[in-house]
Amino acid sequence: MNYYILTLFPEMVMSGLNTSIIGRGIKNGHISIEAINIRDYATNKHGTVDDYPYGGGAGMVMQAEPIYLAYEALRQRIGSKKPRVIYLTPQGKTFSQGMAAEYAKEEELIFLCGHYEGVDQRILDMIVTDEVSIGDYVLTGGELPAMVMIDTISRLVSGVLNNDDSAVFESFHSNLLEYPQYTRPAEFMGRKVPDVLLSGDHAKVEQWRYEESLRITKERRPDLLELSAGERENAWIGTADKQRQQEM
Ligand code: ADE
Repeated sequence: MNYYILTLFPEMVMSGLNTSIIGRGIKNGHISIEAINIRDYATNKHGTVDDYPYGGGAGMVMQAEPIYLAYEALRQRIGSKKPRVIYLTPQGKTFSQGMAAEYAKEEELIFLCGHYEGVDQRILDMIVTDEVSIGDYVLTGGELPAMVMIDTISRLVSGVLNNDDSAVFESFHSNLLEYPQYTRPAEFMGRKVPDVLLSGDHAKVEQWRYEESLRITKERRPDLLELSAGERENAWIGTADKQRQQEM
């Protein structure tokens, strides 16, 4: 999986994604991430990439041309006729685990991060294939949403999680929230780890975890228990982790 991020803040996305599990995925060659600075494609001598909105109003709008030039140079370099271009916007389709599983099947994804008050609609009409929101709130730019999406998609790319990490998802009861986890010591400030986890009885542990998952899901996300088959495809833990279990 190769990610390309068109942004005005390349160091923000690169420093955020070069660490931890995603950083290891890059080092091991399972994924690659390249941030392209839209400002490098500014055509005026001041290097500006935004201007006042036609019709008036507050804020600045990112201009079409620098984005087009950045996109076109990238498209030619990667030799793709019509690559998938995701524009991050609160107006987009709300991101979900099901969408992440779909995106994880692609070989390359381009993210376009907007800033200021928006992006000239013409460039969106020309190059964007998908508009995605990460939730009903407004951020100052598309960089954090792109990072959220890349993190979520990457852990579904084969090889990115090693077996130790995967063990966290060994619950076979999809569409349930995770059960509580404990590690040493067995007692911390008077609080004990549930006895069953120390029993060594694997079947009992599994049963306890299932019941805890069910209890927590009923308490916090009863909606997850009432999903139709189609909705389940797009839901929380759902298909992606089921698919991962089949691979293991
Ligand atoms: N840009 C600003 N807010 C956003 C959001 N919630 N999702 C995606 N992109 C955004």
